[in-house]
Formats: sequence, C-alpha cells, structure tokens
Amino acid sequence: MTDSTVIHLAHPLIQHKLTLMRQKDTSTMSFRRLLHEISMLMAYEVLRDAPVHMIEIETPLETMQSPAIDGKKTVLVAIMRAGQGFLDGMLEVVPSARVGHIGLYRDPTTLQAVEYYFKVPQDMSERDVIVLDPMLATGNSAVAAVDRIKATRPRSLRFVCLLAAPEGLRHFHAHHADVPIYTAAIDRELNDHGYIVPGLGDAGDRIFGTK
Ligand code: URA
Repeated sequence: MTDSTVIHLAHPLIQHKLTLMRQKDTSTMSFRRLLHEISMLMAYEVLRDAPVHMIEIETPLETMQSPAIDGKKTVLVAIMRAGQGFLDGMLEVVPSARVGHIGLYRDPTTLQAVEYYFKVPQDMSERDVIVLDPMLATGNSAVAAVDRIKATRPRSLRFVCLLAAPEGLRHFHAHHADVPIYTAAIDRELNDHGYIVPGLGDAGDRIFGTK
C-alpha cells in the first residue's frame, strides 16, 4: 500500500445503495438496512488482500490444503456512535472478527474530537485493525481515533468510511499518511457546521432515528 492511499469503492451495487441512503425521505428502517448491506459489500473490498494461510481439510474425495482467513486477527473498531452502524454487516462477512469501540464526540463549537470511551482487544501487535466511521468530515475524530489505536501498535491499520470530504482526507493524511482510506464517495466540501455536502445528513441520527 502506497502512502496517502484513498481507495474509492466504485462498485455499482455500493454506489446504488449509497444513492438510496443519501435521499432525505429514506426511512430510518431503510437507511439501517442499506447500511447493513453496503457494509457487507465494503467489507468484501476492504478484505481483498486479507492474509490467508493453508489448512488441511478433507473433501469427500481426498485430503487437501486450502486457504483460510484467520478472522480472529481482524479487529473492527467502531467510532461511536455512527461507526456502530457499520459493525453488523462487517461481522456478517467476518464473524470471528474481534470488536473494539472508541467513544468520541464532536465539540459543537470547536469541532474537536473529545474521547469518552476506549476498549480494544489485547495483543494488538498481532492484529489487523479496520477503523469504522461512516463520515470522514473534518477528520478530527478519525485522526484522534487513529492516534489512540496506533499507540496499541497494531500489525496493520486501515480506515473505512461511506463518505469523505476533501478537507477531511487532507487533514487525515497530514497526520496518518500511512493509513489507507476506503470510501464509497468523496463529496464536494464541508459546510459551516462541519457537515459533508451534498452528504447524507447526520449519520448517527439517520441510523438511530434520533431526529
Ligand atoms: N457527521 C455526520 O454524521 N454527517 C456529516 O455530514 C458530518 C459529520
């Protein structure tokens, strides 16, 4: 993986589901279901180069060596609260993955990330971490989360979002040029309130129906 990598997940199924999610009349139930589906599709792309090892199995005809993923080495770290919405779909694809949580909220005036919770598995140096947050807006939360996770010395680290703003991508890569970002879209800009436009609104509110 080269420095400052942004992988745009342009698969038509991902793009179609994102179009439905962006629409303001999409219900909470549909938004959640679409996020579940899109996160499964994104997991497929994000894990394209996941390490495999050979295991011995018995087919009905003979013994063979066959590739297997060590899912337990994968840690999905959700940035709360919206990152939580990405988890179920990803876990459906990698059911044995471990899960970490980082609680960050955006101070509404400074837009800076403030941490209130952090829990990840032990032995991070043997694990590949995928950080999940649907919206890479200012990049402050993403930078703070990756700072914190890097301190646990994971074997590898990647960041997955649905939408990224150009400002957020620049900010993130100014701090973490070594961490690849996977995104379904790069939108035009941030507005004065730090929202991505055209965007899809507040991801947390749309997932949890809090507005
Ligand atoms: N967080 C969101 O949920 N939406 C945005 O547009 C920006 C940050």
